[in-house]
Amino acid sequence: DWTMAEFRKTKIEEIRQQVGSGRVICGLSGGVDSAVAALLIHEAIGEQLTCVFVDGGILRQGEAEQVVSLFRGHYKIPLVHVDASTLFLKGLEGVTDPEAKRKFIGKTFIDVFEDEAKKIGGAEFLAQGTLYPDVIESVSFTGGPSVTIKSHHNVGGLPERMNMKLVEPLRELFKDEVRELGRELGLPEIFVGRHPFPGPGLAIRIPGEVTRERCDILRKADSIYLEEIRNAGLYDAIWQAFAVLLPVKTVGVMGDGRTYDNVCALRAVTSTDGMTADIYPFDASFLSRVSTRIINEVKGINRVVYDYTSKPPGTIEWE
Ligand code: XMP
Repeated sequence: DWTMAEFRKTKIEEIRQQVGSGRVICGLSGGVDSAVAALLIHEAIGEQLTCVFVDGGILRQGEAEQVVSLFRGHYKIPLVHVDASTLFLKGLEGVTDPEAKRKFIGKTFIDVFEDEAKKIGGAEFLAQGTLYPDVIESVSFTGGPSVTIKSHHNVGGLPERMNMKLVEPLRELFKDEVRELGRELGLPEIFVGRHPFPGPGLAIRIPGEVTRERCDILRKADSIYLEEIRNAGLYDAIWQAFAVLLPVKTVGVMGDGRTYDNVCALRAVTSTDGMTADIYPFDASFLSRVSTRIINEVKGINRVVYDYTSKPPGTIEWE
């Protein structure tokens, strides 16, 4: 009879065995996976763990503050918060190819990590919140030839030169199991129930060139959308909901004037593991409300569309 309480005990034992008296660095992404991995490892080895939160300027609204206050403030887990937004956004200048974005971001995360690891000194282990679907999806696409659909930046991207061993206690788990484990570990519901967020962050929700200004526009639209979803009581019924900022300008009219601004696409899907997904069938009135608010409140957007594509044939993220 398998329970999360037992899984927790077994994993804690395994982590202690693997790590011994070594030091571990854990990258926090703001998402539930890395948070749960960090809590589990902290429970296993306490102060031998240091968390590193690399803020590349491609996070959602308020996310960095939340991570810092939860880990440093609430859990008292040693946490290094690195503001690397200039480094990331400079490097993303002129980059429009989705795989090039992913590779640059993955590599840069690792570079920043490596620097922090050196500063912390003597850490021989790197912890990651890799899940089972990450492991298989980055290897091949079910039912087809072995083709990489998207290179997930948190899997297998660890260069030899870092010379660190991986600690990945969630490798056998699906998302719903990670959430259950998070609850078991006392992680606040707001974190546990949070929609998944990809490592490359907002960069893969801004097709075309990513700039600080476009990230700011997207953050505002996205937070309005999520606020309306929460107000409507729909957040937990949805696997992932987010806004996408398209590299397309269209003509509109506001008051007496002509506008020429960006298009924002809204995505919302249901899923159990992210490997397949269905679109969430919002009421027309809900979508109109969100659209009106985004256009009225977000400078830079004058048109909102809803993405009606399931996975397959679409992927959940746009890049
Ligand atoms: P796709 O877009 O491939 O996404 O249908 C499936 C699930 O994976 C998330 N995703 C990522 N998660 N690193 C991550 O940690 C990544 O590089 C990455 N790319 C996509 C996506 O948000 C969805 O939940």
